[in-house]
Amino acid sequence: MTTAKAHTNIALIKYWGKKDQQLIIPQTDSLSLTLNEFYTTTQVVFDPTLTTDQVSINHHRLTPAAAQRTSAFLDLVRQRAGRTEFARVNSINHVPTAAGLASSASAFAALAGAASAAAGMQLNRRELSRLARRGSGSATRSIYGGLVEWHRGHDDHSSYAEPVMEKLDFGLEMLAIMINTKKKKITSRQGMQASVATSPYYASWRQVVANDMQAIKAAIQQRDIPTIGHIAEENALRMHALTLSADPGYSYFNSQTLTAMRAVRALRKRGIKCYYTMDAGPNVKVIYDHRDRERVIAGLSQYFDRSQLIVSAAGPGIQIWDEKTKKVLL
Ligand code: PMV
Repeated sequence: MTTAKAHTNIALIKYWGKKDQQLIIPQTDSLSLTLNEFYTTTQVVFDPTLTTDQVSINHHRLTPAAAQRTSAFLDLVRQRAGRTEFARVNSINHVPTAAGLASSASAFAALAGAASAAAGMQLNRRELSRLARRGSGSATRSIYGGLVEWHRGHDDHSSYAEPVMEKLDFGLEMLAIMINTKKKKITSRQGMQASVATSPYYASWRQVVANDMQAIKAAIQQRDIPTIGHIAEENALRMHALTLSADPGYSYFNSQTLTAMRAVRALRKRGIKCYYTMDAGPNVKVIYDHRDRERVIAGLSQYFDRSQLIVSAAGPGIQIWDEKTKKVLL
């Protein structure tokens, strides 16, 4: 039995569109921050007595239909490792309930780590990143800690992530504003497919990302948080313009999302250098220098309940260990 622990990540330069649906080769590069507070631990054991995969998330056993995506991923691992046994998978998401934060990133990174090791494959981090990619695009980046770049590549071999700065030596911090939604979700998979197929701005988006990647990496080298934040905020708005400009148009924002964006801008007017970013859901993440944490929290508390605000520093890369011997495998 093997266990892996992987942290989720939030993109500062977004991945929004696939070139290859099956291999999950993205249209563009992307760059993210791995978060310390939000992670998934997953245990996998291949068991010859099983007649189907048994998957539990947060101690709840999934129906075979709900476990389908996990099973499809396990099929890939079985095929590569030359194994035929079904697996028992126990996964715990350490992400606050209703957070709607990209848990597929930490989930598929942890599954890739635990399943490949349990199947006897000894993958290095780049190989793991490529494998995690097959579960969920954003999982590609969750193999590494800190600031991470996903090179889009052009095939299975060349599309993987790499750290830009794995251990942050400056105070970039993120605060997630938990905004609940009861609305039915458009998955990132559906949403990005619609944008690629129908947004007239998609070609410009590719150019935006190419420019933003260069600029943000330069800003990271300078440890320049306001510039990093500004680029991330503009990039997120341009990504969301691809949802509004699709046919039919859609949006992940709700009224609370707009309130949060306005609140961040109001703080900025008061001289607090903080910036927002949003993914395929209504939650807003705010980035700032950790020295401004209290001022950011105090400012946002005028609009949101304190319990909705969760602070996270940068987090580490994946860890994998043998459950019996506790030997660290990666
Ligand atoms: O790979 P997915 O399905 O989790 O899609 C991720 C999409 C965004 O979170 C909006 C952007 C990103 O790069 O993580």
